[in-house]
Amino acid sequence: MTATPFTGSEKESFPDDLEAAIRQLKEDRNAILLAHYYQEDEIQDLADVVGDSLALAAAAQKVDRDVIVFCGVHFMAETAKILNPDRKVVIPDLEAGCSLADGCPAPEFKEFIADHPGAAVVSYINCSAEVKALSDLICTSANAAKMVRHFGDQPLIFAPDRHLGRWVAKEANRPDLILWPGSCIVHEQFSAKGLAQLKVRHPDAEVLAHPECEEAVLDQADLIASTTGIINRSVESPAKTLIIATEDGVFHQIEKQVPDKVLIQAPGMDESCACNRCPYMRLNTLEKLYLCLRDLKPEVTVPEEIRRKAVIPIERMLELS
Ligand code: 13P
Ligand code: SF4
Repeated sequence: MTATPFTGSEKESFPDDLEAAIRQLKEDRNAILLAHYYQEDEIQDLADVVGDSLALAAAAQKVDRDVIVFCGVHFMAETAKILNPDRKVVIPDLEAGCSLADGCPAPEFKEFIADHPGAAVVSYINCSAEVKALSDLICTSANAAKMVRHFGDQPLIFAPDRHLGRWVAKEANRPDLILWPGSCIVHEQFSAKGLAQLKVRHPDAEVLAHPECEEAVLDQADLIASTTGIINRSVESPAKTLIIATEDGVFHQIEKQVPDKVLIQAPGMDESCACNRCPYMRLNTLEKLYLCLRDLKPEVTVPEEIRRKAVIPIERMLELS
């Protein structure tokens, strides 16, 4: 992320009906709006596609419009750019990063790979274009075990999320997976002790957790799945109360489909902060989305020599999924 942060200016004036203006600009720019479930409700409702990382990458591969507006975090928009070198890709706030991607710098990762000669590399999509370019295959939380199984018993590095990696190692029966020690600041905040106490108060509740959570949280879950998996199970489950260990942006799609269910976010370690909300995802706002569509910036770019390498493991994942 080299460009100047784009935060919108206080001097800007906005149309009274911001959502209508955004819809109009989307038409005028021949743009598609892709949004992750962790975006605010109004942004999800304006999107052409709302999804988890896998669905958004698959949608990006099929785009036929001139512009992609990506309401998510930088690595997601970067993946869309890698798949669409000739289209303009913009993001409302260029500072919308990710602790997992930031915690795995490409130079250090290159050394890590060199320390494990003969190992293939599976990287979680939550990483930079440079790290993707060093990888043999990309995965998301929806397909990680399947992507790992693809390598049989070949020595394998899994990066950058150690919690997802530990869960995948169990799922794919690969206890020898070599894990990069990264983590998500949001999912690591869920408290195993608080969750156990909550379960006592709601004995009939089903617990649904994202695999980026710590092992002691995952051990208490009835289902471990991607955001799409969590939403689908919430809708289909016979349980009336659901305890959800992921960012509460997913509540919007569940509430739209099953408004009578009781949704409880798993407790965080520090109840006094909103640490369970992704601070990066939430940098994108309706106002910044409006300006981004109006001005077609800030733009997400990827150097061509990196892009050419990074596209290979992404397309491979999409073929295998
Ligand atoms: P999903 O692929 O499950 O949507 O997860 C993305 C993410 O960043 C979770 O923190
Ligand atoms: Fe990254 Fe965690 Fe935010 Fe997902 S929730 S984008 S993994 S910091």
